Amino acid sequence: MKLTYYGHSAFLLEIGNHRLLMDPFLSGNDKSPVKPDDVSCDYILLTHGHEDHVGDTEQIAKANKATIIANFELGDYFADKGLTTHPMYIGGQHQFPFGNVKFTIAHHGSSLATPDGRLPMGNPAGLLITAEGKTVYNAGDTGLFLDMKLIGEERHIDVALLPIGDNFTMGVDDAVKAIKFLGPKKVVPMHYNTWPLIEADTEVFSRGCERAGADPKILAPGESLEF
Ligand code: NI
Ligand code: MN
Repeated sequence: MKLTYYGHSAFLLEIGNHRLLMDPFLSGNDKSPVKPDDVSCDYILLTHGHEDHVGDTEQIAKANKATIIANFELGDYFADKGLTTHPMYIGGQHQFPFGNVKFTIAHHGSSLATPDGRLPMGNPAGLLITAEGKTVYNAGDTGLFLDMKLIGEERHIDVALLPIGDNFTMGVDDAVKAIKFLGPKKVVPMHYNTWPLIEADTEVFSRGCERAGADPKILAPGESLEF
């Protein structure tokens, strides 16, 4: 598998010939190394409805005829626009051609500004993606929760994507606690340094990550990790 960071919480995960784009907030993010037109994908996975995660989903899904995997309400919203969607919900898993996706809990919000005003878009989620004998856990936007222990017990996590920017999500200290609960091999931090409000010290995070027994992988936007 190959994981490429596009800044904020946007990632491209390549599994064989399958290309999975997660939370593609690109055109609104100065730190993104790519524009929506530059990206090709088969699937777009969304953790929740906030603008900094839905981002350029509509444009990219249309251009690539990609399937949007999202919670029921968010899936419905995009299905109404004529896009292909696969709705899921927390606790549910499904076998896709590229592998297995399970939705996990996340403590956060999930509204979206639309022409009809700000609408609720179901509940926020995390994503467990298992394929080729490897598992990626994308925590989404969330605070720390003790059930991360259950997620770590259920699957051996090769790479965990954890928010560290604080204010809207876990900060560095809680992310280190999350690592102790999850027991991942490698951790890629996300949702930080996009704006001054969510600045985080990756050196402090890296030291905490190592103390918690995991290998920190700080990806600059545009960088990839193969595993
Ligand atoms: Ni959010
Ligand atoms: Mn966010």
